Amino acid sequence: MIRLGVNIDHIATIRNARGELFPSVIEAALIAESNGADLITVHLREDRRHIKDNDVILLRQTLKTELNLEIAAIPEMLDFALEVRPDYVCIVPEKREEITTEGGLNVTANFDYIANMVSKLQDNGIRASLFVDPDTTQITAAADTNVYAIEIHTGKYAQSKDMYHTNEEYYKIKDMCELADSLDLVVNAGHGLTYHNVKPIARLPQMHELNIGFAIIAQSVFWGLPKAVATMKQSMLEERR
Ligand code: PXP
Repeated sequence: MIRLGVNIDHIATIRNARGELFPSVIEAALIAESNGADLITVHLREDRRHIKDNDVILLRQTLKTELNLEIAAIPEMLDFALEVRPDYVCIVPEKREEITTEGGLNVTANFDYIANMVSKLQDNGIRASLFVDPDTTQITAAADTNVYAIEIHTGKYAQSKDMYHTNEEYYKIKDMCELADSLDLVVNAGHGLTYHNVKPIARLPQMHELNIGFAIIAQSVFWGLPKAVATMKQSMLEERR
């Protein structure tokens, strides 16, 4: 079984564009859950450009499935996570000027800080995950923090413009799934996944969960959110039968 985490950040992007209370991230989360989402993912960015603190608090109170909160490795976000107590926290790198999360965490360069954050979260019953590039050094360091899971950054795979580079990135991800599994890490992945490129990633036998946002929310403009979520889940599940 492979799980789909639906990232609803861009429902909040649309809402904030007009400073309105709609479309509601809560309604979006409930529709996603009813149509195959196994968990709901949101990224509380330092600049609060889409998801706001109160969205996370309300989601924590209303979700029927699980909540995965993505945060930067900073004290303010750690305190917030410990207060709200999502089921999962994925630690991601964050630069203010980037459009989206551009690369994986540098676990080796910030090892003590990240390991300490992981243990504070996990000691409080929150399963932590580290968003890393498909890179042996980073994944080995992630395992050394005793983190529950890694989320492999699929951005380079998704953005490769030709078959040669797509395959090159794909085989890196495949090898890193095997490495992470051998280190007893739960393996998740995400970023840039679409209806066109998701299947090979969903097929990887170690893959436990995919977190997908932009493609689903964008496609929901034409299909509606129920069909956009259900079709993505179906595409993933077809690869596991
Ligand atoms: N996983 C992580 C850690 C992310 O930061 C993001 C983007 O916020 C996603 C998954 C989802 O990426 P996308 O919106 O491209 O599907």
